[in-house]
Amino acid sequence: MVNLIWKNKADITLKLDNLKKEFSNFFESFMIQACLDNEEIPVRSSYKGWKNKLFWGQNLEVLCHLLNEFENKIDLIYVDPPFFSGVNYKIEITEKNETFDSIAYYDHWNKDLDSYLQMFYQRITLFRKLLSNTGLLFIHLDWHASHYIRLILDEVFGENNFVNNIIWYYYNKYSAGKKNLPRAHDNILVYSKSDNYTFNEIRLPRKKPRKQLMRINVNGVLKNLKDENGHVRYRIVNDKKLDDVWKIPCLQPASKEWTGFPTQKHHSLLERLIKLGSNEGDLVADFFCGSGTTLLAAEKLKRRWIGCDISEYSIYLTRKRVLNYHNDSQIFYPFDLLTHMNDERSKLIDSGFFQKDLLIKRKK
Ligand SMILES: C[S@@+](CC[C@H](N)C(=O)[O-])C[C@H]1O[C@@H](n2cnc3c(N)ncnc32)[C@H](O)[C@@H]1O
Repeated sequence: MVNLIWKNKADITLKLDNLKKEFSNFFESFMIQACLDNEEIPVRSSYKGWKNKLFWGQNLEVLCHLLNEFENKIDLIYVDPPFFSGVNYKIEITEKNETFDSIAYYDHWNKDLDSYLQMFYQRITLFRKLLSNTGLLFIHLDWHASHYIRLILDEVFGENNFVNNIIWYYYNKYSAGKKNLPRAHDNILVYSKSDNYTFNEIRLPRKKPRKQLMRINVNGVLKNLKDENGHVRYRIVNDKKLDDVWKIPCLQPASKEWTGFPTQKHHSLLERLIKLGSNEGDLVADFFCGSGTTLLAAEKLKRRWIGCDISEYSIYLTRKRVLNYHNDSQIFYPFDLLTHMNDERSKLIDSGFFQKDLLIKRKK
């Protein structure tokens, strides 16, 4: 077994009992997100008693807090964290006639790979604790650090629990490179906690129908099916089993899903992934939720969800996206907004920030 070592590598497991206690009553609900106005809320009966949760805060604290109630209870965790790209992602915000710049999120680590890896090591340990025995963890990365994180996942989950390295091939993104081939894919590492994980077959339509040999299973061995004259039999197939290379475009500004949040992922990617690894009513979580793509997809696919992000712009966009979807569908799943209140946050909430009409644009 190969183990990755870095400066100040420290296992969080020994501190967990204290951390669970420290963060058990740490968050308070600051807005019961019933609806945009005060209309009566139709709630799906199977969800009675459950409220989705959107945490505004540091995910390490949220994960420790959740351990008190959700150990072994989350069915699917997807995260799309900073990739160690060395870039801070800027945005331009317009409110009425006023425009100002801000940072959507930070991914500049001053080349300090050690602290990036330690950040991951702690969180991966906590993801494993929260994941149900039939659950799946999806970690979205790219060439910058996926090779390191895979070793950490092997250490925490066990290399036998590696399920897939999904290649998201985004063929429509311009990528410069004179001394290397244009980089056109991300890696989504998938791990489970046991052999008994939820895994739903997905089939994709083929461009043209195709003639395929018919096969039968004889004592565990696949053999060609033959007719009474000994001729192999064929069938016409219109679809194909999904493999681990997913050709899905990068989201474009013209899309009605576009929020302006940097590195927003395509909704088709998240919808496919949630369908693959969970069923209706299951609990899906994203602890780096950005503009809320995972949570909106979970909502549309009738999964329960927990989300978290440290940026107020993420919480702003996620809240708006889910509420706008409800407005269209007329069905309501209530969700709570939670945070650890401090003066700065309290001021922002009191200023009506979350209810404002903001135009957010990615700035290069
Ligand atoms: C790549 S973006 C996620 C984009 C998202 N998948 C989407 O489709 O919009 C990463 C997010 O992680 C958040 N983040 C980074 N560090 C965090 C932390 N320690 N706790 C909570 N959120 C964090 C950032 O604020 C940012 O919104």
